[in-house]
Amino acid sequence: MDSQIAEPDAAARIASIPIEEIDVARPSLFQNDTIGLFFDRLRAEDPVHYCRESHVGPYWSITKFDDIMAVDTNHKVFSSEAKLGGIAIQDMHSAEGALELEMFIAMDPPKHDQQRKAVTPAVAPSNLQLLEPVIRERAGEILDELPVGEDFDWVDRVAVELTTMTLATLFDFPWKERRKLTRWSDVATAAPETGIVESYEARREELIGCAMYFKTLWDERINEEPKNDLISMMAHSPATRDMPFLEFLGNLMLLIVGGNDTTRNSISGGVLALNQNPDEYAKLDSDPSLIGKMVPEIIRWQTPLTHMRRTALEDWEIGGKPIRKGDKVVMWYLSGNRDESAIERADQFIIDRKNPRHHLSFGYGIHRCMGNRLAELQLRIIWEEIHKRFSRVEVTGEPERLYSNLVRGITRMPVRLHAR
Ligand code: HEM
Repeated sequence: MDSQIAEPDAAARIASIPIEEIDVARPSLFQNDTIGLFFDRLRAEDPVHYCRESHVGPYWSITKFDDIMAVDTNHKVFSSEAKLGGIAIQDMHSAEGALELEMFIAMDPPKHDQQRKAVTPAVAPSNLQLLEPVIRERAGEILDELPVGEDFDWVDRVAVELTTMTLATLFDFPWKERRKLTRWSDVATAAPETGIVESYEARREELIGCAMYFKTLWDERINEEPKNDLISMMAHSPATRDMPFLEFLGNLMLLIVGGNDTTRNSISGGVLALNQNPDEYAKLDSDPSLIGKMVPEIIRWQTPLTHMRRTALEDWEIGGKPIRKGDKVVMWYLSGNRDESAIERADQFIIDRKNPRHHLSFGYGIHRCMGNRLAELQLRIIWEEIHKRFSRVEVTGEPERLYSNLVRGITRMPVRLHAR
């Protein structure tokens, strides 16, 4: 049995593990939600921690808020390049049969900057303003179809549906086929052991199917006038229109995964957090104007991406520890977001915090999340629309969590709605 999996006396067992043996890369720790206890120890005893042996090889864990900021804002020393391993603790391109996708989140300047610039207008404030009424209308439709007073799965019926429809709107994707986006997002992040795909080969085939589908949309749009959707923008921008096929597919995947999994899990994570903190739920119920502050707090609390990884381009020092050129450096946002030295009462979910955007969930520096305002917009709309209709979204059973050390996900969560 995995010796770091926790049972009821998890805290005592975790406290007794020698610090040098702690390996926070194990997906099971995220699935059984004991990971926080490991991070508490690392922050207190060894905030810049070296793990010599793990299923992803040796790696440094950066667990404190300020150290994470220092790495994330220093892209000259800490690289995101795919060919060095990329942005996740599991090396990109390492699995046999995996598709070698290229995306700007896994590039350094100058190429990163050019490609990011090409798609940024899709999420500019003026475009978000145009999107808001469409998202609100579609969100209302999703909520109006839900059963009141009986159990159903919140993840499937609401969280997935809402994020998928926003993404379809962003891509101007054929409406009836929009669940394809959900599937491709799941497949893109899936390893065979998750059960979502059977093998890396099967994954590769599905992603090629996705690319072919988008290629058709691309071919249509390149022959039309430029429009405000992401495909049209990529097809017409000088920085992206001549992209090699795998780079095109990679950047699409980045937008699909970036905009799907993360927001989906914030929607579910928010419902769970409010149920675990009934006083906060009562505050929200009596004052819905708090939604604007609650949304970033939900994103901090959930931390939908647990980490980003970098590779050191030269010898460096963090927190007095010697990082060597070529070392894998993992910034654990989930841990930084619970760091008491940077965030007051960091271990509590508080919907009316003074400075709720002071968190690491979107990263920092040149790769800071491109869709952060869109994500907040979606969450604000859904909570405003929920509040209009339901006095409570009650969680009625144990949520199931994703087996992943990167996406902090909730895969199933039974709920019951109470009408207002
Ligand atoms: C990058 C988180 C929603 C698109 C990132 C990064 C994080 C992140 C941690 C990397 C930051 C870094 O390396 O410093 C999140 C979270 C979201 C969310 C927590 C929701 C709550 C979205 C949405 C989109 C999106 C809705 C859709 C457009 C991107 C893109 C990048 C990115 C394109 C790459 C930026 C770059 O490399 O320059 N996101 N994201 N994200 N995100 Fe998001």
